Amino acid sequence: MGRLENKVAVITGAASGMGLAAVELFVKEGAKVVATDIAFTQLEAEVAKIDGEILALELDVTSEEQWKNVADRTIEQYGKIDILVNNAGVSTHNTLLEETLEGWNKVLTLNLTSVWLGMKSVIPHMQNSGKGSIVNCVSLAAIIGSADNGAAAYSAAKGGVRALSKHASVNFAKDNIRVNCVYPGAILTGAAKRHGVTSQEVLGQAFKNTIPLPPHAGEANDIAQAYLYLASDESKFVTGEELVVDGGWSAV
Ligand SMILES: NC(=O)c1ccc[n+]([C@@H]2O[C@H](COP(=O)([O-])OP(=O)(O)OC[C@H]3O[C@@H](n4cnc5c(N)ncnc54)[C@H](O)[C@@H]3O)[C@@H](O)[C@H]2O)c1
Repeated sequence: MGRLENKVAVITGAASGMGLAAVELFVKEGAKVVATDIAFTQLEAEVAKIDGEILALELDVTSEEQWKNVADRTIEQYGKIDILVNNAGVSTHNTLLEETLEGWNKVLTLNLTSVWLGMKSVIPHMQNSGKGSIVNCVSLAAIIGSADNGAAAYSAAKGGVRALSKHASVNFAKDNIRVNCVYPGAILTGAAKRHGVTSQEVLGQAFKNTIPLPPHAGEANDIAQAYLYLASDESKFVTGEELVVDGGWSAV
């Protein structure tokens, strides 16, 4: 029996990187997965390669209307939502002095408001079924000032996700809804690939003096495994928690 047998999971940012790795792992563990992304053509192409029960839906996580559509379609198709993984996010590298007001608002909307909208759309359905597990993707940038090239707005947004998750974990514990966070360190995903880093070895070379554990950089599945633990009933007494997956970066 899989670790997510009979569970219905909604995953955002599922066309690439950690989100896609989570889709693969969750279906392998028996979940029915609603895979969502703004890049819908890419999403459809990627999930077509995976065996399992997957419903692919277009979702821009900054759109309240599209969130409602995803929640409604999931309920229509599967009757419940057990798991929400708020994985979608994009980092930018502007320092505090370089950032513009427009850029700041865009980064906050994409990385923080999106997580609030996701929880607002899904929690009522979890309350109806009397349980749920929400996993929010944060970043070391929320706890270490020098992580992610000092990206000001991104660090602030991820810090907001951390605080919002703690808030939600306390407020919805009475409904048996758990809210936890995963903090990735340097992980080879679409984000690194867009910056020309195409192998874990090359990314590891860049972090050799920062991340003590070889190969000094993680892969998408390292994060998917953390999502899996927090999504599954194995963590049924864990809420408001922070699971750092960073090869020891934050321990130095
Ligand atoms: N890669 C790292 O080293 C690292 C480190 C810390 C945190 N993170 C976080 O991990 C999460 C996953 O990122 P990744 O590294 O797998 O990146 P990725 O670029 O491989 O995947 C991100 C996905 O999000 C989607 N997306 C972008 N904007 C969207 C929107 N408005 N609505 C819906 N989907 C949207 C993209 O289409 C893409 O499929 C993000 O929250 C990111 O901030 C990544």
